[in-house]
Amino acid sequence: MKEQLEALLNDALAEFAKASTEAELQDLRVKYLGKKGLVTTSMKGLGALSPEERPAMGQVVNTVKAKLEEVLETRGAEVREASKAVRLAAEKVDVTLPGRRRPLGSKHPITLVTEEICSIFGALGFAVAEGPEVEHDFYNFEALNFPKDHPARDMQDTFFVGDNVLLRTHTSPVQIRTMLKQQPPVRIIAPGTVYRCDSDATHSPMFHQIEGLMVDKGITFGDLKGILTLFINQLFGKDIGVRLRPSFFPFTEPSAEVDIACVICRGKGCRVCKETGWLEILGAGMVDPAVYGHVGYDAEQYTGFAFGMGIERIAMLKYGIADMRLLFENDLRFLKQF
Ligand code: PHE
Repeated sequence: MKEQLEALLNDALAEFAKASTEAELQDLRVKYLGKKGLVTTSMKGLGALSPEERPAMGQVVNTVKAKLEEVLETRGAEVREASKAVRLAAEKVDVTLPGRRRPLGSKHPITLVTEEICSIFGALGFAVAEGPEVEHDFYNFEALNFPKDHPARDMQDTFFVGDNVLLRTHTSPVQIRTMLKQQPPVRIIAPGTVYRCDSDATHSPMFHQIEGLMVDKGITFGDLKGILTLFINQLFGKDIGVRLRPSFFPFTEPSAEVDIACVICRGKGCRVCKETGWLEILGAGMVDPAVYGHVGYDAEQYTGFAFGMGIERIAMLKYGIADMRLLFENDLRFLKQF
């Protein structure tokens, strides 16, 4: 019986050594030390021994049992350590790795120029006003004194949405909306998107304008020139040349187009200014009394001026962008430069 128990012990130790998980060890505990386990069964065999043999054999059984308990204990600890090591290795975080950078966007040049222009006029007391992009003929044309047969109303320029409803072709309808809402003094700047059926390197069917309007008692053409010159000097630099040329708009009288000295050649003449030395950047004029008639202002009491400019054109001149389409293609290599 002693040999039998020793063989059992050796088998058990070999199996314990092989087990690599807690579950396997638990199964082995049941196999050897459980109620119906091998060691337990051999203890029952003690009853068949003679009273002289029994104490010595009993001791052997107890030693075997104690040994198995002890080895199970240490194997259990080893297996737990090993599985913990495996888990820690899998969960390892290298805290010295550089972090993942979040790509940081930048403002679009159109946004940058719009903000800069609004802030220059903001400092002069102009409030920002807005209007809808889908507009009624009345605000876009009629109230701005465009005759019914004016070519600007033509299908070729204007995107019509329905009868008398269109995509605004300029930001000037915001002038009308503002004057219908409030009495003078008015001092507003109106940035926004406008639409015209036109597309090439310097024209896009969708583009942006900023409108300005100032109406009060005693506003003169001198105020118009003074404010626009101040604005241009802040945007393009103190010593940039400015000139006004007579022009025509249905809603201003007299009207002017404002040029700045070419930002590329500084007036000498180059390809960008078509050898003239000048670049046209905005349209302006004194609000036509006919417009006051549409909004219920007393033209005897009030005078004022309005102006409008294309933001894309200003952005192109300010940043030296040759093709307007670059502003709408959303190429990150281009946009990242701002
Ligand atoms: N709305 C005109 C245009 O789009 C510009 C303008 C605005 C001219 C205000 C005079 C006064 O061409």
